[in-house]
Amino acid sequence: MNDVILKLTDVSKSFDLGGGRALEAISRVNLEVRRNEICVILGPSGCGKSTVLRMIAGLETPTSGSLVLEGRSIEGPGRDRGMVFQAYTSFDWLSVRRNVEFGMRINGVPSAERRDRADHFIKLVGLAKFADVYPTQLSGGMRQRVAIARTLANDPELLLMDEPFGALDAETRWHMQELLVEIAETANTTIVMVTHDIEEAIFLADKIVFMSRHPGRVKTEIVPVFKNGKRIAEKEKVIELDGYSEMERQIMRLMREEGTKD
Ligand SMILES: Nc1ncnc2c1ncn2[C@@H]1O[C@H](COP(=O)(O)OP(=O)(O)OP(=O)(O)O)[C@@H](O)[C@H]1O
Ligand SMILES: [Mg+2]
Repeated sequence: MNDVILKLTDVSKSFDLGGGRALEAISRVNLEVRRNEICVILGPSGCGKSTVLRMIAGLETPTSGSLVLEGRSIEGPGRDRGMVFQAYTSFDWLSVRRNVEFGMRINGVPSAERRDRADHFIKLVGLAKFADVYPTQLSGGMRQRVAIARTLANDPELLLMDEPFGALDAETRWHMQELLVEIAETANTTIVMVTHDIEEAIFLADKIVFMSRHPGRVKTEIVPVFKNGKRIAEKEKVIELDGYSEMERQIMRLMREEGTKD
């Protein structure tokens, strides 16, 4: 079993709403993520999934509790983490290749190496023919692939993804999910991903962290044991496995319990 690289201990976050009012978004969240793991955070809308991810990214500070990555307390954003947001975040005035090279350019990576790495990740996300095209000339799914390639090219220890495929049509989404499994295998990345799509969670996750709402807490952790510790890149193969439907039903019940409140 790989070592724990990310550990959240009793992390709580209250947002100040002004006028003496505060909103407790998450309460005493505990979470451990192991190296090379795909950890999927699942839960109903508003339960605090993005808040947890933003704290791991260092974009938000906890009100109490601790977040430790590779033995160091998370105090702000850092190069060891890369974030892919739900909205497309490519730079429209730069070609695909320049987008992917962007972070490396800022970090002073020499140009030959930069180009090689950019080409490698552009190929990995299946955009080799589009390296010189501008993002506005691409479809939504292709743009999201640019964002993923750009983030991976910075070689983050931890890839953070907040509903990265939420805005995509079903078929593109399914291809992207399969691509992500491939990336996790070939780039050996550790991934924490947020979704509220049950099927996506079961397909991708080595471990599902299910959050309850108001204030968000970790209700339970679910390991899709029926996958036998394997990552399977073809979605229908996962759906066909014994144990898939039962897990889907179990999570639907959890969602329903959480969803009917307030
Ligand atoms: N900057 C903020 N100021 C005040 N309240 C906030 C802020 N950010 C989030 N919240 C509140 O914290 C709670 C959790 O929000 P969060 O965005 O983390 O939920 P989520 O699980 O990601 O939801 P969704 O699935 O809809 O994206 C919500 O009640 C939200 O209103
Ligand atoms: Mg969110």
